[in-house]
Amino acid sequence: MSRAERLLDRMGEPLDPDDYDWSAAADSPVTADEVFQLTYAAQVEWATEGTFESLDITRDPTVSRFLRIWLEQERVHGELLDRFLNQTGVDVTLLHREPRHRRGARRGKRLNQLAHRVVGDDFFAVHMAWGAVNELTTLRFYQVIRQRTSNPLLSTILGDIIAQEALHYAFYRESAIERLDGNERAQRITRYALTHLWRPVGLGLRCRSDVDRLLGLLLAPKPDLVRQIDASIASMPGLASTRLIESELAAVTIRAAA
Ligand SMILES: [Fe+2]
Ligand SMILES: [Fe+2]
Repeated sequence: MSRAERLLDRMGEPLDPDDYDWSAAADSPVTADEVFQLTYAAQVEWATEGTFESLDITRDPTVSRFLRIWLEQERVHGELLDRFLNQTGVDVTLLHREPRHRRGARRGKRLNQLAHRVVGDDFFAVHMAWGAVNELTTLRFYQVIRQRTSNPLLSTILGDIIAQEALHYAFYRESAIERLDGNERAQRITRYALTHLWRPVGLGLRCRSDVDRLLGLLLAPKPDLVRQIDASIASMPGLASTRLIESELAAVTIRAAA
């Protein structure tokens, strides 16, 4: 059994919204920045429905099983954050169900199928490495929000979500390493895709200025964390000395100055 398959057995069940005392949500105030960050996060978590649809193109039984577990867990993350915000008087619009985003998911599936036909099974090395980057950045985002919040219920919810994001990251990372290790072609394609095509999770669903605001709030003040994220990504085979997040933040700074 591979390390990825062993991780799959540890993935556990989706979180249960009934496990939380929702009446405690309004016990301490939630800041405007938290509302912005949690609304963004809830919308992206719910939008896993569309991401799943665009990526469910593999016949690999381990990845296929993972994607189904992943979808169910991410959906509940969206539900928990949505419900938390509702309890504090904030309504979250589910952007991914709007017609243009549904069309985008279907277009994404056709693009991924085309990319698979063009590059063959090395496409899945890109998929797994890309997923690892997204899970790691999501995990770090939640950790920063959790460190800063004074709301105990939010801290509890984020702690539980973070534990699942860490397992998602571990699965994607191990699966990527299995596909990249000793495969120079997969390494070249994955490096190209991440350095030329990768964009932060949520861009497309939310506009560029919202993505820049999120990065400015959560990662720009934390250069050590950015270096640590980049080093984790760069430690996958073929990705040495890539600096995805540092480059993204540099682009944010240039746009802000323009
Ligand atoms: Fe999540
Ligand atoms: Fe996740």
